[in-house]
Amino acid sequence: LGPERATEIRSLIRDVPGYPHEPIVFRDITPLLADGAALADVVEAFARLCEGDGGHQVDVVAGMEARGFLLGAPLATRLGVGFLPLRKAGKLPPPVERVDYELEYGTAAIELRTGTLRPGARVLLVDDVLATGGTAVAAAELVERCGGEVVSLAFLMELGGLGGRERLAGRTVETLLRVD
Ligand code: PRP
Ligand code: ADE
Repeated sequence: LGPERATEIRSLIRDVPGYPHEPIVFRDITPLLADGAALADVVEAFARLCEGDGGHQVDVVAGMEARGFLLGAPLATRLGVGFLPLRKAGKLPPPVERVDYELEYGTAAIELRTGTLRPGARVLLVDDVLATGGTAVAAAELVERCGGEVVSLAFLMELGGLGGRERLAGRTVETLLRVD
């Protein structure tokens, strides 16, 4: 995203102070998703991270439920690879691998069915928000426990001051916008 387009895309993310509770400022991507050109530009910006010399070559895109599905699935289609949904706990029949974690405003667990991932598959993890990094660390652990290689983690926005990037130190992290 160029700087002008990034500013326009940022204006389509609604800030909601006090949701789901104080002192959280919730970043709602619904207006962005509803704007066809903005959604296409975001997916294209993710795709460019994976193309050309020095781009991340990936076998599959994985997304964290639920907002990671909304960006990850169109990206997978654009790249011509498959999509792997990392589900919130209790949605998939057994056998599953499960990782519990904490995020900015609660706790959760994600699951992936054992055997879904080809051993050694190169995985790009996609989500809308990097906040504390709890979700992303759990997702990377889940993919690795299932035999995949996490090539990169890509986020629409990184929220400053919450430590997410630090928790992912040593991994390749890409973000399209920074929100402070
Ligand atoms: C949100 C967001 C990220 C995560 C980031 O998901 O989509 O997955 O929180 O927070 P963290 O960096 O502190 O872990 P949420 O669990 O609210 O689920 P949703 O996508 O179903 O709304
Ligand atoms: N996930 C974690 N923190 C968030 C926030 N402030 N807004 C939207 N999604 C989030």
